[in-house]
Amino acid sequence: MKKLRVKVPATTANLGAGFDTFGSALTLYNIFEVEEYEGIVIQTEPKDSFLEKAENNLFVQVLKYACEKRGKTFYGAKVKQITNVPVARGLGSSATAIVGAILVSSAVSKTELTDERFFEIAYRFEPHPDNLLPAWKGGFITAVKGENTTVYTRFEMPQDIKAVVVIPSIKIPTEEARKVLPDKVSFKDAVFNIQRASLFVSAIVKGDYSLLKTAMEDRLHQPYRKKLIPGFDDVVSSAYSKGALGVALSGAGSSMVAIAKDNFDGIGKAMVEAFRKNGVNSEYKVLSFDNRGAVLEIVE
Ligand code: HSE
Repeated sequence: MKKLRVKVPATTANLGAGFDTFGSALTLYNIFEVEEYEGIVIQTEPKDSFLEKAENNLFVQVLKYACEKRGKTFYGAKVKQITNVPVARGLGSSATAIVGAILVSSAVSKTELTDERFFEIAYRFEPHPDNLLPAWKGGFITAVKGENTTVYTRFEMPQDIKAVVVIPSIKIPTEEARKVLPDKVSFKDAVFNIQRASLFVSAIVKGDYSLLKTAMEDRLHQPYRKKLIPGFDDVVSSAYSKGALGVALSGAGSSMVAIAKDNFDGIGKAMVEAFRKNGVNSEYKVLSFDNRGAVLEIVE
């Protein structure tokens, strides 16, 4: 095998009202370089000794599983992982590793990557198509995960809006962020979200961004999750005060995402300041929406 490199985008899931449904890729990437090798050698950048152990490295675990699923023995790999997507911040870092490994595995085995095969492997590690699909395909995805199939649709995200992503120092593993969700919600709250999620799709497709503020309101997850994020409401209002079009928790958190057409730095700084006033360190990144998805190339 030659050396392969796969570059996989971060994702922001939910986007407010589209809980467990919407996801979009962002121009922030994890990169995995892989060479065939007998034994497992993992190098990380920035250095992360936890991730350099095969048993902790999701990319290697998925690679091994995908190989064994084809009935082959996994002899090992030399992996270089360049991490730009922070872990446990609601930016789909696990999805980057899962998608990257599946793409490498199907390139090595020269098998066509069908949706069925993708989900068969991916769901073994993470059950969220709203992260997995945009990481794989780029763009905006709206997904329906059924018992045996996942039905989805994808469209390109416009490039005249950007995502100001504010990443606090607090890590929230997705399982923790799901534990705070209720088993039942009221009929009124369900209707509230259907109305807004529908509005969101239309707002993006038609470029009618004035709808986003309403469209990104949510009653299914953010009201419960915000107690895990000190200053959540202040961060949201600080972004709106600087001209954000819509603001939401990114995925299961802890990052927050503001969609905007301009004043990106003004919005980012105000959100960081709102976190600071609530005793939380954070940083912001101004990102575009990625429409390419994961890209695999042969390096040498
Ligand atoms: N939709 C999922 C959640 C995304 O909000 O829990 C998890 O990354």
